[in-house]
Amino acid sequence: MGILRDRFAGEAADAMRAFASSLEVDLEMLAEDIAGSTAHVRMLGEVGIIDGAEAETLAAGLAAILVEIENGDWAPTDAHEDIHMAIEARLLDTIGPVAGKLHTARSRNDQVATDVRLWLQRRLPEVEGAIGALLSALLDRVEADGQIVIPGYTHLQRGQPILLGHHLLAHAWPLARDVGRLQDAWKRADQCPLGACAMAGTPFPIDRQRTAELLGFTGPTDNAMDSVAARDHALEIASACAITTTHMSRLAEELVLWSTTEFGFVRHGDGYSTGSSIMPQKRNPDAAELVRGRAARVQGNLQTLLSLLRSQPLAYNRDLQEDRRALFDAVASAADCATVLAGTVRELQFVDRFETELHGDFSLATEVADFLVGEGLSFRDAHGAAARLVKWCEERDLDLSGVPTEVAGEFHPALANQLGNLLDPRAAAARRTSTGGTSRDEVMRQLHLLRAGLDS
Ligand code: ARG
Repeated sequence: MGILRDRFAGEAADAMRAFASSLEVDLEMLAEDIAGSTAHVRMLGEVGIIDGAEAETLAAGLAAILVEIENGDWAPTDAHEDIHMAIEARLLDTIGPVAGKLHTARSRNDQVATDVRLWLQRRLPEVEGAIGALLSALLDRVEADGQIVIPGYTHLQRGQPILLGHHLLAHAWPLARDVGRLQDAWKRADQCPLGACAMAGTPFPIDRQRTAELLGFTGPTDNAMDSVAARDHALEIASACAITTTHMSRLAEELVLWSTTEFGFVRHGDGYSTGSSIMPQKRNPDAAELVRGRAARVQGNLQTLLSLLRSQPLAYNRDLQEDRRALFDAVASAADCATVLAGTVRELQFVDRFETELHGDFSLATEVADFLVGEGLSFRDAHGAAARLVKWCEERDLDLSGVPTEVAGEFHPALANQLGNLLDPRAAAARRTSTGGTSRDEVMRQLHLLRAGLDS
């Protein structure tokens, strides 16, 4: 009879066995499973639940299995229900019956919960690093090209002239917050479930504080049932991943749009562009598009986890085995998207074409209104006068630079000799010196703030 089948008269069905195995995805947390077991046997030995020599044998056996796996001398197969059973079975083969003591005062429920948190403990710094690298690529771009004047949009209609640096920083800030969100989520995840056992704790005198310490957690979880049933750390982290890939997708979307002939504002580098199988001229921005697409999958992962949890009674249910694919994929995707997008950003070549084109553009209409406020009009009256001026131009197919002095004077006497001075887009951007505005000084201030945050 197979392992854990003593209370049955027959074996599990073949179809059930294959369906039930989580081994494929568990392999990602193999090192974590061995680390969890090693900490557990050390603690068992220290408190005297098993004797010191047994603890040594078990720990050495576990370490040897890790080496075997790394050298390709042994690999778990899906003959086992999961990584926990595979390693326990291998330990029995290599060190004999003392292997049976490994599972004293624990359950697979707390074991798997611990493995997943240990996996996050290892992977989250990598994701944060990858987002940091993307952030740093953006900041380098701001430094190199930030002074280029571009139209700022609302409703995808030209709004006001801004500096490219201002726009790129508007993508950088959310990414900086994303790193904070992941760090924040980890603070709540940073507790060790091991020793919760099935859900009720154990009569053995275990030292959960010690196990937590050995595994690098701040301490043990507080409620044994919560320890095995909770996955809100997975929800929070998948959510942070969905949010950050959504941010990356918004940046990617603009990079795609800006590279069109119609925008003609950026050229994607060779390293992150692809050709077409039929159209010889193509330089497709596939990297950015793939980031946009992957963000959809990560949103799906978050939805999977929410749906997975919503109808589960406490405590552990086997449904929970489905958490890993979604969570691991969300985390890996966030890192991969950040890495690819950072490379894309580093290779971008911006075209400085808008400054000339925007001279006299209607996106300077706010300048006219703001100027008239300086002449004593209320903003509403000034807005009306500037809007009528735009209408006058539109009817004659002119831009603001085509308005004759005497006509400008009819809209407001002060405009007669001042309108010309309001039509320079760079000057318009430079005037926006309020905190967070698009002036050069404000762009530099933000750049330094974000750089300091990255360094710390
Ligand atoms: N493979 C299981 C999982 O991934 C491990 C826990 C099994 N626990 C149990 N009570 N069957 O969740």
